[in-house]
Amino acid sequence: MKTTVAPDTTAVHAGREDLAALGTHVPPLDTSSTYPLPSVEAGGQAYEQMATGGRPRPGDSLVYQRLWNPNVDRFETALAAMEGADEGVAFASGMAAISACLLANVAAGKPHVVAVRPLYGGTDHLLATGLLGTSVTWATPDQVADAVREDTGLVVVETPANPTLDLVDIATVVAGARDVPVLVDNTFATPVLQQPLALGAMLSVHSATKFIGGHGDLLGGVVATSAEWAIRLRQVRAVTGGLLAPTSALQLHRGLQTLPVRVRTQSEHAHKVADWLGSHPQIASVSYPGLSACDPTGLVGRQMSGPGSVLALSLAGGYDAAATVAESCRLIVHAVSLGGVDTLIQHPAALTHRPVAPEARPDAGLLRLSVGLEDPADVIADLAQALDRL
Ligand SMILES: Cc1ncc(COP(=O)(O)O)c(C=O)c1O
Repeated sequence: MKTTVAPDTTAVHAGREDLAALGTHVPPLDTSSTYPLPSVEAGGQAYEQMATGGRPRPGDSLVYQRLWNPNVDRFETALAAMEGADEGVAFASGMAAISACLLANVAAGKPHVVAVRPLYGGTDHLLATGLLGTSVTWATPDQVADAVREDTGLVVVETPANPTLDLVDIATVVAGARDVPVLVDNTFATPVLQQPLALGAMLSVHSATKFIGGHGDLLGGVVATSAEWAIRLRQVRAVTGGLLAPTSALQLHRGLQTLPVRVRTQSEHAHKVADWLGSHPQIASVSYPGLSACDPTGLVGRQMSGPGSVLALSLAGGYDAAATVAESCRLIVHAVSLGGVDTLIQHPAALTHRPVAPEARPDAGLLRLSVGLEDPADVIADLAQALDRL
């Protein structure tokens, strides 16, 4: 029997290997906040095992939901298989996942972070404020080697980056980081299009709220990583309480099954929308990895297997024009977030990237568009009528 299967097959079946033996077709939902203890001694040992980041041993009580949940475990197993990782560790949100990575380093006495901008506004804000006890040096990809210090615990990059869709060559950053672990925020690419661990990154992080959930109805985060880092992250999660909710884990696990189909179709749609926007007189520029001007070193096809479905458009008329377009959309929803089945538009400088320092804040004329599963002709028609307002 074939032991390795194609990625689309993994997406459908991973984390479900034991279901037939359980006599069920879908994962049973376990919402228990607490679990019966067979004895004080056995319960205490199971507690110790999980509170220090270990997995429960066969026959162990799961003790308490903050330490372990079977639906979260299933989702993590499936996501790790799709990322080519040893393990996955899931959190209540993308920011909880990123925070856990930072806290693990602070605890290990490596509080310095080298980060490549642009990053999602929340991540930028967290690093710039040093709220979790970290300090940051901002660097371009080729400055990473010089920026790394004795106390550097992490190099952080996002590719494609939110909101400009800048692409970063992961292998170059990994080479510059030398033995410092590299964290890649893989939210925009998803494991369908990009697998950072295969390129030498240590941590591939997702706001699962976006493409993995895919329907705008939950918050979640997940890190795909090595077995050693998984222990460190689970320990942080157990004590800080950022566990993913079991119902969200069930939805995310289901979301993975359709992720490849959604990502590929949404990418096709986004390409059509990007091509159309590029020829519109009110648009100064379009940033989309599928356009060769945005990918000068050919990372799409090499690092990413496709361009994804998020793009950025710059309005020639600046802030006022951008606000008018966002507010005039009828089919496209004017809302933050991205990666869902419906097309969303938002103004990063005013919203998702508002806390970013002025020198690094996105342009006031920039709008971010996440293209969904609607017929792209309808999305284009809606943009056309919104641009006609200018
Ligand atoms: C690239 C990226 N990373 C992380 C996050 C944070 O994720 P969450 O909102 O799930 O905490 C976001 C949210 O927009 C994001 O776009």
